[in-house]
Amino acid sequence: MPLIAPASLFPAKPHLQIISALAAITLIAAAPSYATAQQTTDSIAPESSTGNSTPRSRAAVHAKDWMITAANPLAVKAGADILRNGGNAIDAMVTVQTMLGLVEPQSSGIGGGAFLVYYDARSKNLTTLDGRETAPMDATPTLFQDEDGEPLDFYDAVVGGRSVGTPGTPALLKTAHEKWGQLSWNSLFNPAIETASNGFEVSERLAGLIASDSEKLSRDPVAKSYFFDQDGAPLTTGTPLKNPEYANTLRDLATNGTANFYNGTIAKDIVAKVQDAHWNPGVLSLQDMANYRVKERAPVCVDYREYDVCGMGPPSSGALTVGQILGLLEPYDLASLGPQSPESWRLIGDASRLAFADRGRYMADTDFLPVPVAGLLDKTYLAERSKLLAAKTALENVSPGAPAFSHAMRLADDEAIELPSTSHFSIVDIYGNVVSMTTTIENGFGSRLMVGGFMLNNEMTDFSFRTHSDGVPIANALAPGKRPRSSMAPTIALKDGTPAIVTGSPGGSRIIGYVAQSLIAMIDWDKSPQEAIDMPHLVNRFGTYDIEKGTSAESLEPALAALGFKTNLRDLNSGIHAIMITNDGLIGGADRRREGIVIGQ
Ligand code: GLY
Repeated sequence: MPLIAPASLFPAKPHLQIISALAAITLIAAAPSYATAQQTTDSIAPESSTGNSTPRSRAAVHAKDWMITAANPLAVKAGADILRNGGNAIDAMVTVQTMLGLVEPQSSGIGGGAFLVYYDARSKNLTTLDGRETAPMDATPTLFQDEDGEPLDFYDAVVGGRSVGTPGTPALLKTAHEKWGQLSWNSLFNPAIETASNGFEVSERLAGLIASDSEKLSRDPVAKSYFFDQDGAPLTTGTPLKNPEYANTLRDLATNGTANFYNGTIAKDIVAKVQDAHWNPGVLSLQDMANYRVKERAPVCVDYREYDVCGMGPPSSGALTVGQILGLLEPYDLASLGPQSPESWRLIGDASRLAFADRGRYMADTDFLPVPVAGLLDKTYLAERSKLLAAKTALENVSPGAPAFSHAMRLADDEAIELPSTSHFSIVDIYGNVVSMTTTIENGFGSRLMVGGFMLNNEMTDFSFRTHSDGVPIANALAPGKRPRSSMAPTIALKDGTPAIVTGSPGGSRIIGYVAQSLIAMIDWDKSPQEAIDMPHLVNRFGTYDIEKGTSAESLEPALAALGFKTNLRDLNSGIHAIMITNDGLIGGADRRREGIVIGQ
């Protein structure tokens, strides 16, 4: 069988255009108006759906001064207004996040957690902020086990108060703004307050998700009264929706910072909601809220070709696993092979499997156990492990390696389930500051508990439900105060020390594959951000090669099966929002699988 896919499988090479003539022109990808943006939603499927999606191509957006790309047009427009009026990327981040929590409440919000990778143009410093949720101090390692010590069914664990961790996103926004913000904190909340007060139209994606999640989402009476009409029917596309409770919460945050959120009335409301949950009451306490702290951590970076690819280290597995995939692929000439070659996908698929094996064994919250961060990205270690890819067919057995480390380690493999939700946005401002932020409440609509006009996360289910396997401890087991391992991979790739690519995606543990693929497409295959995002996805985590259903990638399936991969055609709901920073200006892309747009000027 020939292992060559048709030449028409992927879009042609981009031509990076000179964009100096575009100065001061605002451009919106595929969506010159809100109405047009909404028309792009026909490819959108529920976040946990396995249905088909029909991708659409979009033109890349070019700009000179600043750019923003995110998953919802209202959020992008609000952020663009901040940038247009002299705000910086951190100011825009606060506005975008508060708006996303309103118009895309299923994916992220102030009841959840986030990771920020930030390049500060003035200091030329790249850093990361960890706003991941923490496990309540009264949570026990067996929180997600039944009386027989067996893991609960996933949704039995998710829905209700048990899965709720201490939210980190408000603290991240405040900390980042105190460090780097430019406009006044309270002004940044106005767009979301106004939209929550005056109303917005339920988008097609939100309506579809409410409908498909009806049973779980209607268990909380507050969520039921918000997301369903008086007859109990799910809100439909275009329904005007106001959220005065959220407007009040945002007014409080605008006026008082995070004081009431972590130490006052909002904290009390959150804790009461979790502890009194009719379904699965939880143990989050006022002490947990008061103790919450954002952590500034060193970025985790890997050399790939002429780039330094940097992202969020533990408790995220994102940068480590993306970095391992790229490091394992470095000796192979993907540029010559090209995106149409099954050999490229054999290498990428097995590099991913090797990286996921290490991820499952070693990666977790470094504040709670030693993780061999340097060893996992050590060039000699990766070069040695990369030799496994010299095989001509899919690897038969994939197991974790033995990275160098100063500690004795005996750990078992993790079993955490991560289903796709989450949101990613990328921002470059006129000053050269860069924000890459991935933000989440974990599952679609999180714990399904609504308080203060926002959804509470279910991030605790990102821990392994088991603490041990055959008596050997699992690194990502739950512990009080610990942060669950994430896959979120907000990324900034530097070239010659300055930012060149900003990318990231939602998608549960497939985030890692989406982000790695977007980087390979832009770096090895000369794709523009939009072309990289538009490429059909092929993602391999644990052995099965997921191939994006309904796309031209289906034609690779026979070749990959012949190489020995188990294949699976399925919907692959990424939400990549990427920007390339070139000598000729900014080039952006938004993922057609969601509702996002790009605006630049
Ligand atoms: N809950 C999604 C993630 O953190 O990866």
